[in-house]
Amino acid sequence: MPIETPSADATRRRFLGSITNGILSVIGGILGVLGGGAILSSTVRRQEDWLAASALHDLPDNEPTAVTLSVMRLDGYREALERKTIFLVKTGESEVAAFDATCTHLGCHVAWDRQAQVFRCPCHGGVFDRTGAVTDGPPPEPLVKIATRVDGDRVMVQA
Ligand code: FES
Repeated sequence: MPIETPSADATRRRFLGSITNGILSVIGGILGVLGGGAILSSTVRRQEDWLAASALHDLPDNEPTAVTLSVMRLDGYREALERKTIFLVKTGESEVAAFDATCTHLGCHVAWDRQAQVFRCPCHGGVFDRTGAVTDGPPPEPLVKIATRVDGDRVMVQA
């Protein structure tokens, strides 16, 4: 009885199958390294993102104070300096709240109206109270809160 050998067609199919599996393994490996790197780098950046925003003794009680931060952002492989305006509000002996000054409607910058004691957006009349809550106008969300911590006399923000 003759020994049956695989046909040339079956051999070629097996060969192409193993090439395809090899290529998919390499692609999977590359994606795994890139994905893992992105997660790791965002974790590392998050820990480094605390910035000194003000001295605590410079902030008046319950009166929002505008501060402009310069933040170095990684944009792909390029670093870009981004300026960001925030408001700091000293709410207690060593407690400070912080809000992004960007209106949640279409992104204009709000300003503190000291007389009326509200944040006003100049673009479409959005109004926010000192806690960042919307009290009038089209903004769909409150002002974005920013994490803060107080180290001695330094107010740190996570921007
Ligand atoms: S952008 Fe602020 S109300 Fe429209």
